[in-house]
Amino acid sequence: MRFPEDVPVLTDGVVTLRAHTAADVEPAFRMCQDPVMQQWTTIPVPYLREHAVNFLTEVIPNGWRANTLWAWAIEYDGRYAGTIDLGDGEGGVGEVGFAVTPDVRGNGVMTRALKLAVRYAFDELNWKRVIWRAFVGNWASRRVAWKAGFRGLVTIPGGGRARGVRKDEWVASVGRDDELEPQGNWWSVTELEGRGIRLRALRESDAHRVMEACNDERTQYWLAGLPSPYSLEDAEGFIKGRLQMLADGVGVSWAIADAATDELLGNVSIFDLNHRIDPTMGEIGYWAHPDARGRKVITTAVELVIAHAFTPIADGGLGRRRLVLMAAAGNSASAHVAEANGFTRVGHERLAAPLRDSAYDDLLVFDRLIGD
Ligand SMILES: CC(C)(COP(=O)(O)OP(=O)(O)OC[C@H]1O[C@@H](n2cnc3c(N)ncnc32)[C@H](O)[C@@H]1OP(=O)(O)O)[C@@H](O)C(=O)NCCC(=O)NCCS
Repeated sequence: MRFPEDVPVLTDGVVTLRAHTAADVEPAFRMCQDPVMQQWTTIPVPYLREHAVNFLTEVIPNGWRANTLWAWAIEYDGRYAGTIDLGDGEGGVGEVGFAVTPDVRGNGVMTRALKLAVRYAFDELNWKRVIWRAFVGNWASRRVAWKAGFRGLVTIPGGGRARGVRKDEWVASVGRDDELEPQGNWWSVTELEGRGIRLRALRESDAHRVMEACNDERTQYWLAGLPSPYSLEDAEGFIKGRLQMLADGVGVSWAIADAATDELLGNVSIFDLNHRIDPTMGEIGYWAHPDARGRKVITTAVELVIAHAFTPIADGGLGRRRLVLMAAAGNSASAHVAEANGFTRVGHERLAAPLRDSAYDDLLVFDRLIGD
């Protein structure tokens, strides 16, 4: 191919992919000064003007000529807004890399550009599969890949490398016959409010209250799976992990906060939302901070979550048909929450609830169907 004459122009009417020009060097250089860019990509740091000159005027043109790298400037709103490239391609499988300038992020530019490039890989380069990689924690990139139909995400500990340092990596891919549309649900935490409480996303600043609640003797006794003792790092890890739970489609976890002071009073979650056999079910779980017990905080939180869970996905809910709730037979406060919320006791499993002291209690199973 000749550069730039043979570089195809791809557009969806909003975003255009075109050959780079010398005028793109300056904005590309500026984009690479962005700390977010430096954190999540393998560009040299410090990033010098000569790096941009070399990449845009040597590496990219040579890549097109040699059929080894297909890189476009992303044009949006009449100006350079980033770069996207396809690389490798041996055996019909290659990788995609991308970045957009900080000022245009969050407008769907990258998702549009990614779909255009992936279509080109399949239709013109005849690839069978495109691979996306990102360092673990690059949620914006993961979201873009998810929106463009990348699937089968796995985490490879130490699988990535930037400037001589190994990093955990996410990898996902999309195949030629796959739809370039999201696969599976990426849930969000809808705020729910009623009777003096607000259900909202957990925040880093909740960590201390989470630690207190999870170190409490009663919480520790009935939730035998919790680390013991439960450290501040455990709490921070729990809060960070909620994002993963949403993105994986597994569940939604809310902080139960005092509507007036915003102080954390407890936690309510609904999980197993991507149950392999019945993706219309969900299981509810909760704990209360010791100073919030005995005032119907959890009963109210569960009531709010039930209404949200039975609301169709199209209307912003979780589209559930059946909810289950389990409680150890001796945990009468928990059974009370279930019964107060219209759950029916449908099962009694013998010695199925492990307790903190290596003993087992019977497990009561409750359910509630959408029509109940
Ligand atoms: C990754 C990047 C290209 C995304 O560009 P963008 O133009 O913002 O992408 P889009 O607008 O198409 O989509 C971004 C999505 O991520 C979401 N997002 C952003 N930050 C997020 C976060 N911390 N957690 C969850 N979602 C997040 C946005 O809300 C948006 O989703 P939505 O449209 O459903 O609301 C941009 O952040 C970037 O250039 N980062 C630096 C370089 C980089 O990381 N490249 C990828 C290396 S693998």
